[in-house]
Amino acid sequence: MSEKLRVGILGGTGMVGQRFISLLEDHPWFEVVTIAASARSAGKRYEDAVGGRWKMTTPMPEAVKDIVVMNVSEVEKVASTVDFVFSAVDMTKDEIRAIEEEYAKTETPVVSNNSAHRWTPDVPMIIPEINPEHIEVIEAQKKRLGTKRGFIAVKPNCSIQSYAPVLAAWKEFEPTEVVATTYQAISGAGKTFKDWPEMEGNIIPYIGGEEEKSEQEPLRILGKVVDGKIEKASSPLITTQCIRVPVLNGHTAAVFVRFNKKPTKEQLIEKMISFRGVPQELELPSAPGQFIQYLEEDNRPQVSLDVDYERGMGISIGRLREDTLFDYKFVGLSHNTVRGAAGGAVLCAELLKAKGYIQAK
Ligand SMILES: NC(=O)c1ccc[n+]([C@@H]2O[C@H](COP(=O)([O-])OP(=O)(O)OC[C@H]3O[C@@H](n4cnc5c(N)ncnc54)[C@H](OP(=O)(O)O)[C@@H]3O)[C@@H](O)[C@H]2O)c1
Repeated sequence: MSEKLRVGILGGTGMVGQRFISLLEDHPWFEVVTIAASARSAGKRYEDAVGGRWKMTTPMPEAVKDIVVMNVSEVEKVASTVDFVFSAVDMTKDEIRAIEEEYAKTETPVVSNNSAHRWTPDVPMIIPEINPEHIEVIEAQKKRLGTKRGFIAVKPNCSIQSYAPVLAAWKEFEPTEVVATTYQAISGAGKTFKDWPEMEGNIIPYIGGEEEKSEQEPLRILGKVVDGKIEKASSPLITTQCIRVPVLNGHTAAVFVRFNKKPTKEQLIEKMISFRGVPQELELPSAPGQFIQYLEEDNRPQVSLDVDYERGMGISIGRLREDTLFDYKFVGLSHNTVRGAAGGAVLCAELLKAKGYIQAK
């Protein structure tokens, strides 16, 4: 019998769900045994339910093709087959908030890609290299939910991954003001060029709800645990513009930063490239060996050359230089559906398993 933990993917037929299934193929700790989606897909073989919607560049793993898709709403039934679930359903926020709590209350941990619980005070929102200690609020959450092992943990929005990690690496220099413009890939909207042809050669200067997330979520990541809740940091002040660009995968950010204690460029680079966290110390299976790389060439990072750095789990930074108005400016790049979505959630689940929060039922 397999000793791997049994995993369910809620929303497994969608783009992020497919990414989970691809990333978990041959995972050393986790095995996908259950896939759930809407009533439209329930009862069908996974391969038939997805049909022509497979959006990954690698083929659909053989092991999942014959899994019969379950209905996300049949919570007890789905939960009885798994040790924990990843959540990537597309429902209303209220519905997601409710259904993720229902799963947690069946004693099934939920590691979610959705934004519904990102501001629930006792739900940790984790970038494992930056704020692994936030998982301690899970104890308070379990008390609230009345569970022994069921809880919800989330990962932050894809847009912040291209600059929040360096703000964490530069914490001791006290960044006070940040201006970021993000250039976001169409896969962030669950789309490819085939199903969004209007994006070819186009730019759309609006992504609903994205700027607020991009400004606020880094503060929660940089916050601290107080009495079983996350208290968000009060600085830096962050303002953003989020723009959809004709790129398939990879969110780029052009960023200006002001510091309280202005460092040298060399110090900033040294802090970035030496930045390590618990995932590297514990050698978690999905951890990038090097979390942040710094590229010296003036024309890097480029989406086509750098988005898959460290299998899409690393962050690429370039063009760090002094600015005339702010102290420094730079360009960052991250893979939005790997580090920014499914990969970030898988790393989070690995951290939770390593720390004993996720176990076999
Ligand atoms: N794409 C990204 O990079 C990204 C990044 C961060 C966060 N997100 C968030 O992650 C979620 C999933 O995104 P996505 O791009 O993967 O979306 P998607 O491709 O549209 O997939 C949505 C999934 O949810 C299921 N679903 C839809 N309505 C449902 C319902 N009423 N009940 C149960 N299941 C339902 C779908 O099942 P059927 O196939 O049966 O319809 C499908 O499995 C969204 O909330 C999105 O905002 C996406």
